[in-house]
Amino acid sequence: MVPTMGALHEGHLSLVRASKADCDITVAWIYVNPSQFAPHEDLSKYPRTLQADIDKLDSCGTDLVFVPTDAEVYRPGHSTWIEVGTIAEPLEGRCRPGHFRGVATVVLKMLNMVQPDLAYFGQKDFQQAAVIRRTIADLDVPVEIRVCPTIRENDGLAMSSRNVYLSPDARQRAVVLWNGLEIARRMVAAGQRDAAIIVRQMTELVVAAGGEIDYIALVDPNTLAAVTEIAFPTLAALAIKIDGIRLIDNAILEP
Ligand code: PAJ
Repeated sequence: MVPTMGALHEGHLSLVRASKADCDITVAWIYVNPSQFAPHEDLSKYPRTLQADIDKLDSCGTDLVFVPTDAEVYRPGHSTWIEVGTIAEPLEGRCRPGHFRGVATVVLKMLNMVQPDLAYFGQKDFQQAAVIRRTIADLDVPVEIRVCPTIRENDGLAMSSRNVYLSPDARQRAVVLWNGLEIARRMVAAGQRDAAIIVRQMTELVVAAGGEIDYIALVDPNTLAAVTEIAFPTLAALAIKIDGIRLIDNAILEP
């Protein structure tokens, strides 16, 4: 199964292709899950392109597309929620309270509805994949999670359904997320091990491009706890608003 919220791009389709390569039957899930959006977030204007999505899935050989309605997913009286602990708290969890509660709940529900052997997620949402792994392990859900690499535009910007919100000017400046990760990678390659110095460089770059910083963090990829020194492969993660459009990206820094 490949869970998505639709508005599909090559990032989503790479998950479908990975599933096609590994599995006999590939099911895509398209559902814009209201419970993972806060009241002030972009639920009502989230891009919806169902027919184009189905055509793309069809051209990749997807066997089945499941497009449930709100009434099918959250039936009358629904009142059970998955609260994920520590791993869901920093980064996205801090900026978007309740987000991972909605994600973990809907993912567990779709796993139960579809009952796949494998489910595919993107590294672009690194913390989401970690939260889902935690949920699956803690609740003994019989599914294997596979996480696939981030697919990018030619200039390095990670593909995202939200990129369509960017004006041409903001789209150009949005490459600063990738440039920030690249500068971090170059600093580590040149021997820099001080996390604070790397974060400061990334911050300067983002500010110069007019980005508004939700967070720029260097963390342990297993626990998502902040690190002060790059002593092992470290996750650089950032969430930046460009003209009010919130974008996230991440990369592993290898010392
Ligand atoms: P959505 O944002 O549509 O993403 C669906 C899947 O595609 C996620 O696993 C995400 O990490 C992956 N993805 C997005 N952009 C990618 C890129 N550029 N390269 C590779 N993979 C990419 O994530 C969600 O939906 C929802 O939270 C969901 C899990 C479906 C629960 O509602």
